[in-house]
Amino acid sequence: MADPDPADSSRVWTVLVARRLLPAGLERLAGQCEIREGGLEATADELLELAPGVDAIVADPTVAVTDALLEAAGHTLRVVANFAVGYDNVDLEACRRRGVTVTNTPDVLTNATAELALALSLAAARHMSEAEADLRGGRWRGFDPGAYLGAELSGATFGIVGMGRIGRRYAELVAGLAGEIIYTSRTRKAATERELGARQVPLEELLDGADVVSLHLPATADTIGLVGAQELFAMKATAVLVNTSRGPLVDSTALAGALREGEIGAAGLDVYEHEPDVPTALLEAPHCVLLPHIGSATTRSRDGMARLVADNVLAVLRGAEPPNRVA
Ligand code: DGY
Repeated sequence: MADPDPADSSRVWTVLVARRLLPAGLERLAGQCEIREGGLEATADELLELAPGVDAIVADPTVAVTDALLEAAGHTLRVVANFAVGYDNVDLEACRRRGVTVTNTPDVLTNATAELALALSLAAARHMSEAEADLRGGRWRGFDPGAYLGAELSGATFGIVGMGRIGRRYAELVAGLAGEIIYTSRTRKAATERELGARQVPLEELLDGADVVSLHLPATADTIGLVGAQELFAMKATAVLVNTSRGPLVDSTALAGALREGEIGAAGLDVYEHEPDVPTALLEAPHCVLLPHIGSATTRSRDGMARLVADNVLAVLRGAEPPNRVA
């Protein structure tokens, strides 16, 4: 039997939503797609059972899109639409081999993620988690001139590792506070230098000179383990490390040690190496603000991501170029 014509507007496609797609995205798919939903607790084995014959898979950073899942979906599968800007959870090579398009959701989450990085920078510098935990735990005994002494970020040197869309937005947000903005990037960002006075430096110089080091890189073979014991040791004893990108960029055992030993001043983390596990050493480390991967968690951003996912799915299934192809 010949494959169905993608331009046939009466066609109903089958979409495997591996975990959950918000109504803003489901509404766009309604009428044109039948949805198979794994749900938030779906295991890899359950997804393999749901996959046969689907035209599209909607994944997110917690869903490993493996060759086995693509194989289970079979030859009908045309697109993997990731509900995230990062796509390290997707086996891109396997998708390419099978002619499956991969898409992501950039731009709509840039503000939300950069704002969270700013919030973490301030919260970590001012030891907000410990202060709030004491208050909630009934340990606060009133104003104490010597308690919770943190660092002010006015006049600080902000070190931005990765000057992509989110790094650039973070630079804009901190520009009013910063004494200086330094950054690393594969390519020089002339506009950012001109408009924000940022200066490109090697990573070693950034680690050595920054009061805040904020990571804005994807997880790749080149970036995994980027910040380990040596890099932490190279940072100022008062420095704040912020990670809203991907957990594996930072060696969390080394980070917990550096916080305990006072090799750096504080850390603000939104992502972890093996989510949702958070190492006990980090939970117990001083001056460490820990959030549960909420960088893009605003209504505006998440609705925008859901709509982009739907637009990407429909474009590919209709035989058009999707707005956000990564492979
Ligand atoms: C992403 O988009 O990559 C985030 O981790 C989820 O918003």
